Amino acid sequence: MPGLNTSKSMSETISKRVDSLLLQMSLREKVGQMNQYNGFWDVTGPLPSEGESVKKYKDLKDGLVGSMLNVTGVPEVMRLQKIAVEESRLGIPLIIGYDVIHGFKTLSPIPLAESASWDVDMIRKSAEVAATEAAACGINWTFAPMVDVSRDPRWGRVMEGAGEDPFLGSKIAIARIRGFQGEELSSINTIAACAKHFAGSGFSEAGKEYNTTDISESLLHNVVFPPFKAAVKAGVKTFMNGFNELNGIPTTGNAFLQRTILKENWGFKGFVVSDWCSIGEMIPHGYAKDKSAASNSAIQAGSDMDMESYCYIDNLEKLVLSGKVDEALINDAVKRILTVKFELGLFDNPYKYCDITREKKVVGNKVITETVLEMAKKSIVLLKNEGHLLPLRKKGLNIAVIGALAKDKDSPLGSWRAKATENSAVSVLEGLSAYKGNNVTYAKGISLIKGSATFVSELEINTTDRSGIKEAVSIAKNKDIVLMVLGEHAFQTGEGRSRTSLDLPGLQQELLEEVYKVNKNIVLVLMNGRPLTINWADQQIPAILEVWHLGSQSGNAIAQVLYGDYNPSGKLPITFPKSVGQIPVYYNHKNTGRPTKPSNDLVFWSHYSDQDNTPLYPFGYGLSYTSFKYDQLKLSRDAFTKRESIKVSVRLTNTGNYKGTEVVQMYIRDIFASITRPVKELKGFQLVSLNPGMSKQIEFTIDEELISFYTANQKWEAETGDFELMIGGDSVKTVSILFSFID
Ligand code: GLC
Repeated sequence: MPGLNTSKSMSETISKRVDSLLLQMSLREKVGQMNQYNGFWDVTGPLPSEGESVKKYKDLKDGLVGSMLNVTGVPEVMRLQKIAVEESRLGIPLIIGYDVIHGFKTLSPIPLAESASWDVDMIRKSAEVAATEAAACGINWTFAPMVDVSRDPRWGRVMEGAGEDPFLGSKIAIARIRGFQGEELSSINTIAACAKHFAGSGFSEAGKEYNTTDISESLLHNVVFPPFKAAVKAGVKTFMNGFNELNGIPTTGNAFLQRTILKENWGFKGFVVSDWCSIGEMIPHGYAKDKSAASNSAIQAGSDMDMESYCYIDNLEKLVLSGKVDEALINDAVKRILTVKFELGLFDNPYKYCDITREKKVVGNKVITETVLEMAKKSIVLLKNEGHLLPLRKKGLNIAVIGALAKDKDSPLGSWRAKATENSAVSVLEGLSAYKGNNVTYAKGISLIKGSATFVSELEINTTDRSGIKEAVSIAKNKDIVLMVLGEHAFQTGEGRSRTSLDLPGLQQELLEEVYKVNKNIVLVLMNGRPLTINWADQQIPAILEVWHLGSQSGNAIAQVLYGDYNPSGKLPITFPKSVGQIPVYYNHKNTGRPTKPSNDLVFWSHYSDQDNTPLYPFGYGLSYTSFKYDQLKLSRDAFTKRESIKVSVRLTNTGNYKGTEVVQMYIRDIFASITRPVKELKGFQLVSLNPGMSKQIEFTIDEELISFYTANQKWEAETGDFELMIGGDSVKTVSILFSFID
C-alpha cells in the first residue's frame, strides 16, 4: 500500500498503529474517514440527489471515503476496495457495511420471531451463520442488532427488534452481537456489529415512523437503555443513532446520549455512525440552520461517521479551520473508526473478505440452511389449540389450504431481506408437500395486495376483489382440516410501514369468516411482522399458530410444527392487544393508584368503559402440544442483604403426552420504592426440555444486581424493601412468593 507506514511485522498494539497512521493524515483525509457513501444502486433511504456517483468515485480515489454501505458481492467490494487501497495516497481500506438484519442471502426468521424462541444460544448461532455468509460476500460490518425496546405494534419496525422487554432484549442483544462478532473479530467469518438506534426510536409518538419521542429519565434508564448498555458490555464495535428527536434534541445531535451516556458513562470505545442522512435531517427537524450547523452539532454530540448526508465531507474541514470545531474531536472519531478497521484485520489484508471461491462455497451451504430451519421452528408460537386439533395426523386427512400467503415464497423473507433472492423462501404449500400421507387442496381465496411490492414503495392492499372467495369456500367444504394462512405481506412491516389498524389486512377477515361458515375445523397460520388484533379468530378458531415472517426455511418449519415433528416452544416477546385503542399495552406496566374496580361498581378506577384492560395474548405467552405444571416454589431464605444472594426453586413437570420445551420465566415486583415500579419485571428465564411425566427442579439466583434499577437518586442501585417473585410459563399464570432485601 503506497505511503502507508504500517507493516504486518509491527508488534505495536492497534492503538499505536492508529496513532502513527493518524499522524500521516491530512485534516481532509481524516474527515474522509468519517464519510460513508451508499453504493451506487441499492438504497435504504432517500437519495440526496442523482448523479452523485462521479463525486463518489473521485472521493474514493482521493481517500475521502471511510466506508461504503449497500455494496455487496466479492467482485463489487473488491473493485471499490482496490480504488481506496491502491489509488489513494494512504491506501486506508474501506469498512463495508450492510443491513444483515436476519441473514444475508439465506434468511432466518425476522428478529421479533427469533426473539419469540427465547433461545439465546440459537439466536447467537443464527447471527453467526448470517455473519459467515455476509463475510463471504465482502461484508465486514452489519447494521444490527436493532435493540430498540418497543411497546407499540403500530410501528413497522417492531419486526426488527426483540419486543417490549429490556431484560429479554438485553440477553438477545448480547447473543446477536456475539454471533456476529464471534470471539475474534479479525476472523474471516465474523463482522462488526452495530447496536441501533440510539436511542428511543421504539417510543415514537403514536407508533408513526420517524416521529417525535418524549421519554422520561426513568423510562430511558430503566427500559430504553439496558439493551444498549448490554451491547457495550458485550463488546459491540459500533453504534448507530436514529432519526428521532429525543426530548427535543435529535439523537444525532444529542450529546447527552452519545457523549455523556455512551462514551463517558458506559466507556464505549467503538464508533457511532449516523443513521441514513440523519445529520442533514437536523435541518427539517428545526434543530440546525444549515448543513454546517448540522455538522457542528453532530460532531460535538459524538456522531463519528456520516451516513450518506454529505454533511461532514462538505463542512467539517471548514469548521475546524474556522476554529468552531476542535480538531481533537476529529482525531477521536477517526481513531475510533481506524481501530475497528484494524481489529477487523483490514489493514493486514484489505481483500480478506473478497474471496470469490469462498463466496460460492459458503452461500446457502448446508450448515447455514439447517441453522435457519432450526431457528425458524423455535420461533413459532402456538396461541390456541382447542380440542388438540394440532398436531395433524400424517395420514388419511383431506386438507384444504387457503390464503395467498400459503403459496407466497416472498413474504416469509420479511422486509429487511438483505440479498435474499426474491421468491426464494420455502412456502407453506411446499413445506406441506414433504408430507405425502394426506390429500391437500389449495385455493388462494383473495389476493393480499394489488400489483407488486418493493422495499421502498407503498403497498396497495386489495380491498375490492372478492372473486376468489367462492372457490375457497367450496374447497373448504367437507374437508377434515382447513389451514388458513393469513397475515401481513412482508412489505407491510419494517421501516416506514406504520399502521393505524392491527386487524388482518384487506379482505382476509371476510375470507376467514366465509370459510368458517362451511367448516369450523380451521387452523389459522398467522404470517405477520407485528402483533395483530385477531379477536374474532381467538374466539372462534380452534387452533392458531403464530409463524411470523419465518425466513428462507419458512414452509418446512411450519409443516414440521403442524405435523408435530417439532413441538412448538415459542413465547411472545411482545403483547398482542385486543384493540389499537389499548396501545401502549404491555406487561411491565405501573399499578397506578386505582388499579382495581371499586366494590360499589363506581367508574373511578384505571380502565376503559368499552373494553377490558387485559391484552389478547400477554407477554411471554405460548402453548405447547404438551402441558406443564409448576409447584414446590421455595426460597433458600426469605431475606438477604448486600453482597448476599438467595435462591428460588420451582418444580416443573411435563403433565402431557409430548416431549416439550418450556420457557420458565421469573418475574419480580419491587412493591414500594423511591419511584413507582412495574407490577412485574422479567428477571430470569430458562428453557427446559422434559419428556412426558418427567419433572425437574429449576433454580434461579436473586442478588442485589438483579433487583437494581435507576432510582430517584439518579443512579443504578438496589433499595431495601419487600419484593414479590413470580414464576410461570408466561407473564400472567405464575406461582408467587415474597422475599425482602434488607440492610
Ligand atoms: C435505514 C435504517 C437503518 C439502516 C440504515 C442503512 O434508514 O434506519 O436502520 O441501518 O438506514 O440502511
